[in-house]
Amino acid sequence: MALTGLFLCLFLVVHLAGNLQLLDASPEGRLKFNAYAEFMTSFPLIKVVSYVLYFSILFHAFDGLLLALQNRRARPVRYVKEKPMANRTWYSGQMAVLGTLVLVFLVIHMKSFWYEMHWGGLPNDADGNKDLFTVVNAAFHQGWYVALYVGMMGVLAFHLMHGFQSAFQSLGLNHPRYTPLIKNVGILFAVMVPVLFAMIPVWMFYFNA
Ligand code: HEM
Repeated sequence: MALTGLFLCLFLVVHLAGNLQLLDASPEGRLKFNAYAEFMTSFPLIKVVSYVLYFSILFHAFDGLLLALQNRRARPVRYVKEKPMANRTWYSGQMAVLGTLVLVFLVIHMKSFWYEMHWGGLPNDADGNKDLFTVVNAAFHQGWYVALYVGMMGVLAFHLMHGFQSAFQSLGLNHPRYTPLIKNVGILFAVMVPVLFAMIPVWMFYFNA
């Protein structure tokens, strides 16, 4: 889980960097984003990485649910006196719920863009690339869809807030000097990445034509 989780974190950074191009809605900006999307779906090496990504998502989700079930089975009778907040945060105890919500988001998200890009029969832009920019722009001109993304980025933030540092713990990378640093980098990552992702639909809603 730790290895797939960290790989998915790496994907988030690359995906975010690519998607920030959506903020440029000039005619050249649109063509540039479409060329980028075309490259990301057709370049053979990136295609291989994409299959690793799909596998990682499925493995991470499946293993996470299995772990949650095992934890429940290990203690079917709950503690009489529970002080859940004494040694953990609320979100660290809700990783399965948060992860399931992220998975639901992913299904909706991939149907909207990834499916459209691969099988949606999109019209071509002036450079002959599929016009994915127009699809994303239209989606983010619907208020409910923007609200869904912003809400789900909040869910993702809490999932990452525990998940990032937990991955290092699971790998046994515990060190008196480096563990506090990993925790702080994890908090920064868990806040910055979802905030920047959420900024894209909000920006497109208000500022893109
Ligand atoms: C504002 C935020 C986001 C935007 C605008 C966005 C945009 C896109 C677009 C346009 C695609 C289709 C591109 C293609 O198929 O090549 C895509 C694919 C994808 N997105 Fe996002 N995305 C966002 C957030 C996220 C988040 C937060 C996650 C994960 C939690 C995510 C996971 C994925 C995955 C797994 C794919 C399929 C990638 C592949 O086929 O290699 N996206 N996204």
